[in-house]
Amino acid sequence: PIIKELFGLSDLEEAVREAFGLKRVVIVPGDSDTSEHIKVELGRAGSRVLGNSLSSGDVVAVMGGSTMARMASHFTTSNQMKDNWFVPARGGLGESVDYQANTIASELAKRAGARYRMLHVPDHLSEEAYQTIMQEPNVREVVDMIRGARIVVHGIGDAATMARRRKLKEETMEELVKDGALAEAFGYYFDRDGKVVHRMATVGLRLEDIEAAGLVIGIAGGSSKGEAIASVMRFGHDDVLVTDEAAAIEALKHI
Ligand code: BG6
Repeated sequence: PIIKELFGLSDLEEAVREAFGLKRVVIVPGDSDTSEHIKVELGRAGSRVLGNSLSSGDVVAVMGGSTMARMASHFTTSNQMKDNWFVPARGGLGESVDYQANTIASELAKRAGARYRMLHVPDHLSEEAYQTIMQEPNVREVVDMIRGARIVVHGIGDAATMARRRKLKEETMEELVKDGALAEAFGYYFDRDGKVVHRMATVGLRLEDIEAAGLVIGIAGGSSKGEAIASVMRFGHDDVLVTDEAAAIEALKHI
């Protein structure tokens, strides 16, 4: 009922901003679940927020996913950003090539005239393999850069959808359900209170790096993601949320 009384997207932006204690909320009209055009608009809005936030010398750590891919392909800047770096936030998480963080970091860097580093780490590392890989000077160097990124940009997914997309084992899926996982972001799964209930083993950004980052931007839309967005916002380390109208309305039902 309270939602229906709102009119205009700026009211909705303000309601979401306030509900989740964010610095800024940007909402595009429509529902990206049912329209590719809206998803592109969401990506475009995200790329504008990122472009306007960049300062000289910034390191930007980006995640993967289809929303991030649309953000990257619409990224434009008026000035060349030769001393900016784009890096993937985390190693392999089981995404297809187009949606991998490496691909998105390199695309953004090319479009910005900036520099990038890749992180070539296989998916699903054992503890032993993780320790070995972290001793590689090249990996170590990129990981240090990622962990010190001033800006982090990420998508948000529904937990079950992401668990399937990343082909988690049946028993892990069952555990996720048991633990009440609703959302997935940066390889971490969150319950309705925004508490981490599971994480995927890979190198790169840790939760403490997200907490320490100067600017964390979440980009996600579609009514099916409303509850997931609410749970990641409750985790509480995003500064800016870029979303669509349908997801925003849904998210407000879960405050
Ligand atoms: C990625 C995040 O950026 O986006 C994931 O790292 C998230 O954690 C995913 O689940 C969502 O993907 P998509 O394709 O729905 O934008």
